[in-house]
Amino acid sequence: MKLCRLIVLSVMMFLFGLTAPAYAKITVTVAHTHVETHPQHKAFLVFKNYIENEIGDRYEIQIYPNGLSGSNEQVFSLVKLNSIQFMAISASLLENASKQYSIFSVPYLFRSEESYEKFISDPEVLEELRVQEKKKNFRPLSAFTAGTRNFYACYPIRSVDDLKDRNFRVQLGRNTGLMMEAFGANDYVMSFKDVYQALKRGVVDGAENNELALVDQKHGEFCKYYTYDRHQMIPDMLVGSEEFLSHLSPEDYEVFKAAAMEAQRVEIREWKSRVQKAIKQAEEMGVSFIKVDVEPFRKKVLPLHDSLLNDNPAIRKLYVMTLKYQ
Ligand code: GCU
Repeated sequence: MKLCRLIVLSVMMFLFGLTAPAYAKITVTVAHTHVETHPQHKAFLVFKNYIENEIGDRYEIQIYPNGLSGSNEQVFSLVKLNSIQFMAISASLLENASKQYSIFSVPYLFRSEESYEKFISDPEVLEELRVQEKKKNFRPLSAFTAGTRNFYACYPIRSVDDLKDRNFRVQLGRNTGLMMEAFGANDYVMSFKDVYQALKRGVVDGAENNELALVDQKHGEFCKYYTYDRHQMIPDMLVGSEEFLSHLSPEDYEVFKAAAMEAQRVEIREWKSRVQKAIKQAEEMGVSFIKVDVEPFRKKVLPLHDSLLNDNPAIRKLYVMTLKYQ
């Protein structure tokens, strides 16, 4: 019977010129919130090319930049459902899902960006961050730098007292809330994509982020003063859907992992020159960059370290690991 069907099918294919269908490629969607000149976009292009060079007969990577797929919070929900396979998301937004990520919002954790970059490139750090993810439907594959977070506002901040009673947009997270309290400032938690409107409408006096936010997100239209107080260094994690990653063959998984590491190297390498360009562009927008003595800012929040470590034992191991890079 089976043989009969096969013969009929072969005859039909011969008569009607039918050919066996080629297997469709799997479309892998990557979404991020940044503009196309941002180092993260370049890194995702590297990610795409790496995978397509190795196993492009089976996978096609589509990248959606500029927050086209929604806010970071919305995209993260879609990654967990495997509707989107990869994204870059601030470690702050992962704090609720997994307590280890709070390590990065501990203020003044690193002495320099170089130490921080070495820390986030350490495979053991990534392993430690991965501990609980299987249950959480996402998995980090590498970490992108997002530089140093500094305050910027519609008025100049020249000392830590200038933060007092002022309103700033901050990222979600308990450590950040406590840091703002120690600075004497009011924290307004909101999504990255809503900050422009909040600054425009004067809901907040300022925000805190790296220099790129001034130009890429146009925050420099309203905030003409950027102060180098250097309070936090929080990476954006390249995370994948657990559902997607756990169904890959071990060989394909290795390709995705290697692509993520290559993307990280490129992102970190590109970062400094993009920051230099952003500073120039921001100056053309009328933004002044203020150098301050960081010590008084540090002193205000340093006593928090002990209580943050006591309240969240999940970050203790990572905290000790940072010492290797100081
Ligand atoms: C950084 C980071 C973003 C993040 C943002 C924020 O710029 O790259 O991914 O969302 O900070 O403050 O929300």
